[in-house]
Amino acid sequence: MYHLFWFLHIFGIVLWFGSLVTVGFLLMTMRRKPESEKFHILPSVVRGVTRLSHIGAAFLLIGGIPMLFMIRHTKMAEFWVQYMAGLGIIIVLLSMFMLSAVSKDMVGTADGAMVRRSLRLYGRWLSFILLLTLSILVVVAFKI
Ligand code: HEM
Repeated sequence: MYHLFWFLHIFGIVLWFGSLVTVGFLLMTMRRKPESEKFHILPSVVRGVTRLSHIGAAFLLIGGIPMLFMIRHTKMAEFWVQYMAGLGIIIVLLSMFMLSAVSKDMVGTADGAMVRRSLRLYGRWLSFILLLTLSILVVVAFKI
């Protein structure tokens, strides 16, 4: 059973982190494009991939939370498990709520100023979430 949860956890991380990195890459590459082109396609793509990241986040938590109750108590005391589970839950929930709310504002509106503002805000939240997730991956990889 533990291995199934471990698989779901890792699969969720790959899907969640992978889709957020993809959106980040897309926002970076589209930055210099004319607004007419950017506003035509970007909002719905960002919204779509954000939804995909939620599926990943769900698998990450469905695998991670039960494992937390299956690992040895001594392991729970290790910094890397506490850092991952504690900060991880906050980041995953932040990505589900904040990226969702901001991406919602950028679709279905003809207000260019609103789309511009939402894309900038989305980019900032995304950078914050990706940097903190990278810190978790480093801490978990080196079992600090
Ligand atoms: C950004 C979020 C997260 C990342 C990047 C992450 C990453 C990882 C990785 C890479 C492993 C495999 C470690 C190994 O076997 O060497 C792992 C294991 C684990 N994760 Fe996470 N995790 C995250 C969030 C969470 C959350 C929110 C929880 C629980 C609520 C959690 C609970 C666990 C547990 C219990 C293990 C198994 C530890 C072990 O037995 O060695 N993780 N995680």
